[in-house]
Formats: sequence, C-alpha cells, structure tokens
Amino acid sequence: MNNYKLKIAEIIFEAVEGLTLEEVTSMVEVPTDTKMGDYAFPCFKLAKSLRKAPPMIAKDIAEKLAGADLFDKVESVNAYVNMYLSRKGFVQDVVSAAVAEAESFGRSELGKGKTVIVEYSSPNIAKPFHIGHIRSTVIGNSIYKIYDFLGYDTVRINHLGDYGTQFGKMIVAYRKWGNKEDVINAPIKTLLEYYTKFHVEVENDPSLDDEARAVFTKLENGSPEEVALWQWFRDESLKEFSRVYTMLGIEFDSYAGESFYSDKMGRILDWLKDKDLLVASEGAQIVDLEPYGMSPALITKKDGSTLYITRDIAAAVYRKETYDFYKNIYVVASQQNLHFQQWFKIVELMGCEWAKDCVHIPFGLVSLEEGTMSTRHGRVVFLEDVLTRAVEQTKEIILEKNVNTDNVEETAAQVGIGAVMFQELSNSRIKDYVFSWNKVLNFEGETGPYVQYTHARAVSILRKAGDEAVQKAKEVSALDMSFVLGDSAYELTKLLYGFPQVVVEAAEKYEPSVVTRHIVDIAQNFNRFYHDEYILVDNEAEKLAKIALVIAAKNTIKNGLHLLGIQAPEKM
Ligand code: ARG
Repeated sequence: MNNYKLKIAEIIFEAVEGLTLEEVTSMVEVPTDTKMGDYAFPCFKLAKSLRKAPPMIAKDIAEKLAGADLFDKVESVNAYVNMYLSRKGFVQDVVSAAVAEAESFGRSELGKGKTVIVEYSSPNIAKPFHIGHIRSTVIGNSIYKIYDFLGYDTVRINHLGDYGTQFGKMIVAYRKWGNKEDVINAPIKTLLEYYTKFHVEVENDPSLDDEARAVFTKLENGSPEEVALWQWFRDESLKEFSRVYTMLGIEFDSYAGESFYSDKMGRILDWLKDKDLLVASEGAQIVDLEPYGMSPALITKKDGSTLYITRDIAAAVYRKETYDFYKNIYVVASQQNLHFQQWFKIVELMGCEWAKDCVHIPFGLVSLEEGTMSTRHGRVVFLEDVLTRAVEQTKEIILEKNVNTDNVEETAAQVGIGAVMFQELSNSRIKDYVFSWNKVLNFEGETGPYVQYTHARAVSILRKAGDEAVQKAKEVSALDMSFVLGDSAYELTKLLYGFPQVVVEAAEKYEPSVVTRHIVDIAQNFNRFYHDEYILVDNEAEKLAKIALVIAAKNTIKNGLHLLGIQAPEKM
C-alpha cells in the first residue's frame, strides 16, 4: 500500500524550490472538511523565499500538479493547494492490501529486534480480584497485543503482590481461626475473612502484631512450615485468578511477583550503600528525594525487612539483566504515580542509564453506579461475577432477539466478555469512568456488541455471496473498482487506509482507545455503505468490487478487535 502523504510530498517537492522533502512532508495536511480535498498544502511559508503572495504560489503549484496520475482534481483556494486523490487508484490500492494481507493488515516490523516488557494485572494474593483490577488487566493486554503486532519481542509479566508483612498476619489468623476446607472451597473469600478478623482482633490484643511480624521474619528466612502455608495460599489464589484470565483470554509469560525478588535484595541494598544513597532514619533506611521535590522513599523498615518499593527496584534490575529491554512498561493505577516517580529516580541515581526506558502507564478509577467500592463495607464487586453476569445477560438478549448463532453459549461468552472489555478500552485510559451495565451490553451505539455485530454482518454477506464469488473478489487487481467510488465506500476505504497508522499511534501513546475509536468509525461507515448500496447485485463486476470492499472492512475490524483482545464471532 502506498504512503500517500509521502507520495504527495515527493510530487510537491519536485514542483517547488527552497524546501527539503522533510519540510514538505511535515507541511502536507489532511483537511478536516473533506470538501477541501483529501490532502492540502498551505503555501504561507514559501512567500518569503519565492517573493510572491501565497495565493499566487498555491495557484502555480496547483497547475503543476494537475496532470499527475495520483489525483482526480487539484485546486487552489486562497493560500492552499487542495488535492483530491484519484479515487479509483486509491481504492484499488487500499482494498488490495487489506484483502491480501488479511490477518496481517496493519502489522509491521517496526519493532524488530527490540524487547518490550509489559507488566499488567499484578493483583494481590489473597485479596479479591475486583472490578478495579480489570483496568490494568485489559489495558495491559491490549498494549501487549499492539506492540506484538508492530513486531516487537514482548514479555508479559504479572508482578503478583505475593509478599509482605500481610502474609505474617494471614498465617497467624489461619492458625488461630482458620480451617483447611474453607480455604480450599473459597480461597480468596476465606483468606480475606481471616485478614479482616485479624484487624478486628488486633485492636484488643496488640501482641498479635508482634506475632505476625515474627512469623513474617520466619517466612523471609525460609522456615519450612511458614513457606508451605504461604505457598498454599498463593497456589489457591492463583487458581482463582486463572479462572478470570481464562474467561478474558489473557495470558502471561511470567508470574514472577514480589516474592521472586526476596532473595535479590541484599545486592540492591549494597548497591544503594555504595552509591551513598541510603540514609538512616529512626532505625529505618531511606533514600532522600527532597532535591527532586519528592517525599523520602522507605527502603528498609526498623526490623530490616524490605518494602514494596525495594522489590520494584530489584525487579527492574533483574528485568534489564534478563531481558535487556528496550522498554519496560508498567500498567498501574494513577494512585501509584508517586511510587513510580520515586523509584525511577532512585534507579537513575544508582547509575542505570536504562531508567529512562521504564515507563509508568497510569489509568483512572472505575466506580460503580451505586457508589464507590469499599472492601470494608463489603461493596466489592468481584470481576468473575461481573463477567459471569455479562455472559448471562447476553445470553438472554441473544435468545430474546433471536440472534443468529450455532452455539448460544459460545457467542454469549464472546459478546458478553467482549462488551465488558470494549467499554474498558473506549475512553482515554487516564479518565475515571463509571461502570454501567446499560451501556456495556447495548447493541447500538459505540459498544463492543455493535462492532462485533458489524463484523458478523460482513461475514454474513460473504456467506450469502458464496465461496466462488468471494475467491474471485480476492483478486482485487483484476476487478473494476470504479463501482465502489461513492462517498460512503470512499470514506470507508480512507478509514481502512488509516488503520496501520492508528496502530502505530496507539503504541506511541500507550492508548488502546485510539484503536477502539477507529474501529467504531469503521463499523459506522461500513453500515452506512451497507445502507446506501445494494451489495449482492446482478451485475457481476459490480458485485465483486463491492464484495472486495466488504472483505477488506471485515479483515480490518477483526484485526482491530484482536488488538483489543476481543473475539470476532462469525455469526451474531
Ligand atoms: N500489586 C499491586 C496492587 O495491586 C500492583 C503492582 C503494580 N506493579 C508494580 N511493579 N509495582 O496495588
């Protein structure tokens, strides 16, 4: 597929003097109003060097460009050269690419040989996997898919919160009030109960805290009984998390969580000491970040135990040494902004030039229509329940609306879960958002079901057209594309053309919603085209040209959904 902006720049570069190709390229614009052409070139900057009024320059350039094959029409309007691409050539070129490249349309080799780590999800063991965690999980998964699509080598890491003094508390609580069956039956719920009970009891009996600390020290020192209990809590929790990941279709390459770094702390502490970064403060050790406008970072507690931030430093060093990353991305809530700023600075002060390659990708809060979540007040919404409910409600809608499917269960799962993920990826990630059932499962409007439905509609047209016609339509170079030059077909094609660049933009901004919005646009324009034109007409040449455009749109929507981690059912 041609890069049209570049082609145009080359032609203009030949026609004017005094500008480099780069300068010309950066000056070529896409007008917001399509009446002003597909591309425009403002001539103000040339006035000085050419000693001519900009409208005159525009007129000259327009005359020189008018003959080029690339255009249907070139006009000058005031200081602008407005260019209208040859619709036929453009449509043929873009549809050919989207049909021939199929699943690879939009893929590139941009990131070849570069390793990108995407850390996401990272829930805490023995704590609920609630609706708040969906953000990191779903956004991170999409960022991984986008980077993978662009040819980067990717490593997906789940930095489990599986370490820290809370495990001392949990072990003490389990030994005092716990029982094995309960944990096996409902691990997270039960462990959370123990943890909550511990906090109630410690009010009356502060010695429980000392006990918990002693138990955690034993755990840190590798005492077999404590390690076995901790391992068991971890395994049971992971089973529960895995169920959610399976529902979401999400995988990881590594589950190296906080505990993984417990034996890698000594070296980090020595390193900090060597660099003269540690300051003793009431028995604890801190790094003073005052010169950088930040509060001090607590590195070791009074009892010598390390903290969340210490483990993050160790993890980053380990990742650099293990994967030699080009970028190390953390998809973590914006509440932790300071935490990341602090330790990025510390790693820089330790002399790691790669500190600049660590990126925190923050996102806003999810709240529920019925009010904010609160673990204390039991207002936690478990993600698994949300997903199950989405699937059940979708099933009802499918039966009620008589949706076309061979497998109700499978379609309900693809659409219900896709709907939740899509809503998650619709807004800029940094915005807070309110989770709304009505919005999620709507088949109209800018939703997952709408886009999936549009994809299924395209597949259904192709099914009706029959295999023979579809195979012929795939030979786009042999087709007469003058049948698909109407406005809705042309606008649709322009959006397909934009898709590969949208993927690059989404990666640069770490913003899956760029892809989400683009495929909503494609779906809307596809439906406009479907509404405006008969597709399976009697005229064979016309029919094949239209089928080719349907294939191109279907492929692009499917690839977009893939980048969001969402399935594209063939029937709906
Ligand atoms: N487990 C943490 C939490 O749930 C998130 C971990 C984020 N990742 C990191 N490398 N600090 O709040």
